[in-house]
Amino acid sequence: MTDNRNPEAAWTYHESTKHSYASIRSSLHFLDWSNQPLPFKIYPTLEPMRLPGEVRQTGVAALSAIAEGIPAQTTAVPDLEAVAQLLYLSAGITRKRNYPGGVIYFRAAACTGALYEVELYLVCGDLANLEAGVYHFAPAEFGLRKLRAGDYRRVLLEATGAEPAIAHAPLTILCTCTYWRNAWKYQARTYRHFGWDNGTLLANLLAVATALGLPARVVCGFVDASVNRLLDVDPQREVAFSLVAVGHDVALPPSSPAEISPLSLETVPLSEREVDYPLMREMHAASSLGSAEEVAAWRGHAPKTDFPPPSAPLVPLQPFSLQPLSDAEMPRDPIEQVIQRRGSTRKFARSAITLPQLSTILDRATRGIPADFLDPFGALLNHLYLIVHAVDGLPPGAYVFHRGRGLLECLKEGNFRTEAGYLGLEQELPADAAVDIFFLADLRPIFERFGNRGYRVAQLEAGILGGKLYLAAYAQRLGATGLTFFDDDVVRFFSPHAAGKSAIFLVAVGHSAKHKS
Ligand SMILES: Cc1cc2nc3c(=O)[nH]c(=O)nc-3n(C[C@H](O)[C@H](O)[C@H](O)COP(=O)(O)O)c2cc1C
Repeated sequence: MTDNRNPEAAWTYHESTKHSYASIRSSLHFLDWSNQPLPFKIYPTLEPMRLPGEVRQTGVAALSAIAEGIPAQTTAVPDLEAVAQLLYLSAGITRKRNYPGGVIYFRAAACTGALYEVELYLVCGDLANLEAGVYHFAPAEFGLRKLRAGDYRRVLLEATGAEPAIAHAPLTILCTCTYWRNAWKYQARTYRHFGWDNGTLLANLLAVATALGLPARVVCGFVDASVNRLLDVDPQREVAFSLVAVGHDVALPPSSPAEISPLSLETVPLSEREVDYPLMREMHAASSLGSAEEVAAWRGHAPKTDFPPPSAPLVPLQPFSLQPLSDAEMPRDPIEQVIQRRGSTRKFARSAITLPQLSTILDRATRGIPADFLDPFGALLNHLYLIVHAVDGLPPGAYVFHRGRGLLECLKEGNFRTEAGYLGLEQELPADAAVDIFFLADLRPIFERFGNRGYRVAQLEAGILGGKLYLAAYAQRLGATGLTFFDDDVVRFFSPHAAGKSAIFLVAVGHSAKHKS
């Protein structure tokens, strides 16, 4: 029996890992470059099977791919080429940069500190040119290492309490997160990063699945121990975080091999030594689910977290309606091109974007996520709050986004570049951007509904939405970057409207100073 229902662990974790002006100044942490973790998981005894390297051009506009999905019951089975495309465009190496200490291998999705703590595994039946098995994706070789031969999909079916998308998925992509690879830099706050970094990756994965005509669904309800055992990860170091059911086949998977035996495969140590931050492992254990029955009761409808419509304006401004670009005006750059040219903006020009550009970003990125914690489709846990610095058609100020109504309500007018720079951990990026988009969530109803695991999914959802914001910005040749923040100061800044909520994530959007367009 786990204690997911008692959310004390999530509150403790959340409070203990807040950034504040004082916590940043009193931290003694420094980066031990001599003990930097390897960016890849390596199984030295297994030969990788190379994946086809050619990127198939889907031609599907990124702004459509991030906003739409393929209906769940559409029969579609990925082949090896589609598998390669999904993996490359979500976790593949898209750029390399030399620096005095070595090489940074940048990947398709943004990730805190470029540390890439998310590993991908596949569990599939027989696909065209790929035999049924359990595989690990090796980005360095762009290949797959076979961990188990045979069809193990029934194990996932049982672990997810017979989740319907998993039941009919020819392929499930499993995302795990490795504590030390990210905690080397971010210490105990890493558990939040699991959600963010897994989320940006899933934004890409979902969009590419749509472009390939494959239904996809994010599944966060599963018996943790069963999935970890199937992948044979050491749960003290690496844990399954999310699953994505890909494709749809009417047939249910055959029975799986009876025994899930340990693989005892050698892996290369990430560092000479690892520092343990037990708070993260406690958070993970307390948000774990122990049985198929518990999983079945966990998944489903999202809690109601709506806030009332704008009533008497707090400022002498009526709410602004979004003005998204029409289909005819919308840039049509295909998803694969947009993902390949994405890279976090390192310096923003202080130049304005337009209200239609911002509207298109907000509209396209927030239409809904197919996920087992977000029923009915379109429900979301996070709310978007904005600091507008330079958007033609919107006075500078603080805003809240009324998603269902397509409105931006001004909470206070003013030029808040200095405040935004401070809130974004005293960095220049949020001060120089055209707009900063904050995700805030009321964790109380989320924990009430989902227990401690609600913390995982609130972070993951924000990461997915943030990843979609990145893609919507790059599709319009704008820049974007994820950012971290001073938790309570963010909530204070948007209060009284945001009182009682928690800061979850932040993405800044604007023109890159390098590539003015
Ligand atoms: C959740 C998240 C938080 C981030 N926080 C910061 C930040 O506080 N400051 C910063 O300069 N970059 C930040 N980044 C950008 C990462 O450093 C960047 O994604 C990483 O170096 C990989 O580079 P790329 O996005 O250009 O591929 C963040 C990215 C993500 C996804």
